[in-house]
Amino acid sequence: MSIEILPDGDALALRAADLFALAAQEAAAARGRFAVALSGGETPRALYKLLARQQFSQKVPWRRVQLYWGDERCVPPDDPQSNYGLARDAFLRHVPIADANVHRMRGEDPPEEAAQAYDAELRGLAAESRPRVEVPIFDLVLLGLGADGHTASLFPHSDALAVEDRFAVPTTAPDGSPRLTVTAPVINAARRVWFLVGGAKKAGMVAEVLEGLRVPNAVPAQGVAPVHGTLTWFLDEAAAAELSPDARG
Ligand code: 6PG
Repeated sequence: MSIEILPDGDALALRAADLFALAAQEAAAARGRFAVALSGGETPRALYKLLARQQFSQKVPWRRVQLYWGDERCVPPDDPQSNYGLARDAFLRHVPIADANVHRMRGEDPPEEAAQAYDAELRGLAAESRPRVEVPIFDLVLLGLGADGHTASLFPHSDALAVEDRFAVPTTAPDGSPRLTVTAPVINAARRVWFLVGGAKKAGMVAEVLEGLRVPNAVPAQGVAPVHGTLTWFLDEAAAAELSPDARG
């Protein structure tokens, strides 16, 4: 696991955009495909907007990119809360990616039905891998961190945290809003997992996740531990403020 601390949110987004393009080039060259699961929330918006800029967009082999989501709110794609809608408006509309390569979670459908459909999509992704694998292997999973320690839509003390036999499940946010989320096996099978976390409000939880007592059921982000892949935390200074010198080192 590695930690990169950037001066501010803009520098964090620029660093992530740079590395996103490199990861896409590497995966496309090595395996003919870059399968990435996007995160939702506000933090990745700046990164997504950069991906629409020619300086980054021209470096991404979009024909080889397969876009998925790590979670979704159970709302239609045009709802302001939609994670798909966030990405669509920030960059999907502006880059040459085929519709068939964009695998959104159908937030507008009944949650159990949408989760089963996405589980099937992810099994299809796994089946395309050579050699064949059981769990889909993403080249990159982007994650955010909630102030309560959730990531994707894996919330504290949720039944979804223990699911091993499904790759996507319906769940509920603490405010009662229905969500869809990939499960821990999918995240932990990825070649790269990146947390993008910014702002002083997250500093306490960042320190809790990285240096606090390990209780993944209460702090789901602590359950992110790629089996074979790499885990990188991209933090701005504000979010890193409560880390010890050792952790910062
Ligand atoms: C979502 C995200 C969620 C998010 C965190 C952080 O759908 O909201 O997937 O896990 O990453 O809640 O959100 P912010 O970036 O808005 O702080």
